[in-house]
Amino acid sequence: MTEPKRYLITAALPYANGPVHIGHLAGCYLPADIYVRYLKAQGKDVVFICGSDEHGVPITIKAKKEGVTPQQVVDKYDGIMKNAFKAFGIDFTYYGRTSSTIHHQTAQAFFKTLYDKGIFKEETTQQYYDEEAQQFLADRYIIGTCPRCGNPNAYGDQCEKCGTSLSPSDLINPKSALSGASPVLKETKNWFLPMGELQQSEAFQQYIQRFDSWKSNIKGQCQSWLNDGLQSRAMTRDLDWGVPVPIEGAEGKVLYVWFDAPIGYISATKEYFNGTAAWEKYWMDKETSLVHFIGKDNIVFHAIIFPMMLMTHGNFILPTNIPANEFLNLEGDKISTSRNWAVWLHEYLVDFPNREDELRYVLTSIAPETKDSEFTWKDYQTRVNSELVSIFGNFVNRVLVLSEKYYEGKVPRVLSELKDEKLKAARETCFDALGNSLHQMRQHLDAVKLRDALSCFMDAARAGNKYLAETEPWKLVKTDEENTKAIMYDAIQICAKLAIAAEPFLPHTATRLKAMLKAPTLAWNGLFNENILPDGHQLNKAEILYKQVADEEIQVQLDRLQRIKTENETVAAPISSSPETIKAPQHHPVKSDIAYEDFDKIDLRVGKVLAAERVPKADKLLKLTVDLGFEQRTILSGIAEYYQPQDLVGKLVTVVANLAPRKIRGIESQGMLLMAGNDFGKLYSVGSEKDIEPGSVVK
Ligand code: MF3
Ligand code: ZN
Repeated sequence: MTEPKRYLITAALPYANGPVHIGHLAGCYLPADIYVRYLKAQGKDVVFICGSDEHGVPITIKAKKEGVTPQQVVDKYDGIMKNAFKAFGIDFTYYGRTSSTIHHQTAQAFFKTLYDKGIFKEETTQQYYDEEAQQFLADRYIIGTCPRCGNPNAYGDQCEKCGTSLSPSDLINPKSALSGASPVLKETKNWFLPMGELQQSEAFQQYIQRFDSWKSNIKGQCQSWLNDGLQSRAMTRDLDWGVPVPIEGAEGKVLYVWFDAPIGYISATKEYFNGTAAWEKYWMDKETSLVHFIGKDNIVFHAIIFPMMLMTHGNFILPTNIPANEFLNLEGDKISTSRNWAVWLHEYLVDFPNREDELRYVLTSIAPETKDSEFTWKDYQTRVNSELVSIFGNFVNRVLVLSEKYYEGKVPRVLSELKDEKLKAARETCFDALGNSLHQMRQHLDAVKLRDALSCFMDAARAGNKYLAETEPWKLVKTDEENTKAIMYDAIQICAKLAIAAEPFLPHTATRLKAMLKAPTLAWNGLFNENILPDGHQLNKAEILYKQVADEEIQVQLDRLQRIKTENETVAAPISSSPETIKAPQHHPVKSDIAYEDFDKIDLRVGKVLAAERVPKADKLLKLTVDLGFEQRTILSGIAEYYQPQDLVGKLVTVVANLAPRKIRGIESQGMLLMAGNDFGKLYSVGSEKDIEPGSVVK
């Protein structure tokens, strides 16, 4: 294939109904980011698009569970997800939201075009209806047994166990996810995409030729779909949360979330280009390569349904590649949001500050590219300690420390090539291995085999490390200054190459290493150049790139997972065994009785918030200055995810005034705020300012 003029890379829009975990990162966002960084490093024209998927039943289900509105749910998680991606260096060109006006307009116009072309089939069908909740049960509102694999918790739109896409009528023994009741059938009108017909079209038959060069997991899934024959699928739903269907007679209906969400890629591109026509060449010019990064549960939507939509619309290009990944498991079990069986990115950031690249490294090394794979904390520790720390980190550190010691941090001038035969052989072996590894790394990156590419990167570092181990410049320097200089010169150039090569995988490291080398903008083609940093070039001081992961740190994580496992086992099973069934909020068990005298020891006071600010590098903490009437206190509170600091100023709150002071992140906290609420963290404020004075006793 000829070289594309530009790239449009997308990563699946995550549902804004929960935070992001390592499974999301490994499956889709990290691979997309590595590929994008690789393309950009070579100076290619790339736009990288993502955003929050804010419609669909998963959002409304979450809202019901939390007792808040869908809008509150998406506002909260859009922010949390965006922050997590940013911290891990996922470098989206633009991150949008499907609740935006441009998106609503774009999705409606798209639907209208297909409607006006007469693509949809209007059909009145019997749909499941929950009489108690007085609501049609679309998609995930309905749960039953998968006709294909027998999974008793399959959803009305999909079985997550076998990946089959379903419609509610396929389910055996369907139940309402709202009430657990058996639903009744009721008539309603919807607009269907006639996928069976479209499958026969010449355009589609031509499009599916592309599958031949795609990964076998996606080829296999699509082939089995096509062999079964595609079924019509409703593109509208009887729901009140979503993009309203823009035609007459469709009041109270919204677009199917899988119709609107992928159009989100288009709307986000438009938003990025601020309404100018520049977005069009990314979506309409055949010389653009469109690549969708997704997890395996998204295959049919990206490889079949969305292309059919694009095709029937007429203006758009179709995907060039869809590198779909399989799933990542955690410590022997499927990652599950509802069972809290996950490593959450926002929590990792707190437990392992400034160690984002360590997780990027491990998740890329075990990426589920061809089959499901497994994350364990022990393996995380081993990979970080024995690869990042002992090979890459160790090599870089030795080189910088020795350069500082021998040459005051300047690249030495080499007067003659290596003389000694043994040293010469070591050099040759090193540069052969290095050249090979970097060459192969590039080929794997081109083929989006990122796991293999990363292992080539580590081989390159290994070659450098071995060169030093074999030539031992720290010994040689005592007898042979000239040869030592030649070796150290090489070693510094290898560090520079590794800084360049690290960028796609380990962007934080690359930035730090380039700063150490005082070469912030090393060009990608330096990878295949022997002399990157000229002699006399001044380096900066050595800094440690990676810390060892200690046993205790791993134990904390294992203990946490063990606690979750125990909780999951002891919590009484909900009425329906489905994990996603909406259940009454679990109440916390009441603690054992205390004597009145014990209660009376607690000194509760009314306080007034005078000032509030974020605590640097602590996502959850706010530092508050609270007036207790007789004195002012500094109080740290873990509410930063729920409140903007400025919104708290002036609020009256209940303060535990005699809690022993405690240092958190180097700041002394002199008390505690009482809070109430679900995990949205409602502040428990005691009333308006005129009712009560700061310092008043609360009993
Ligand atoms: N929100 C979906 C999920 O998390 C993915 C949507 S991808 C898009 O599985 F193409 F529809 F945007
Ligand atoms: Zn199934």
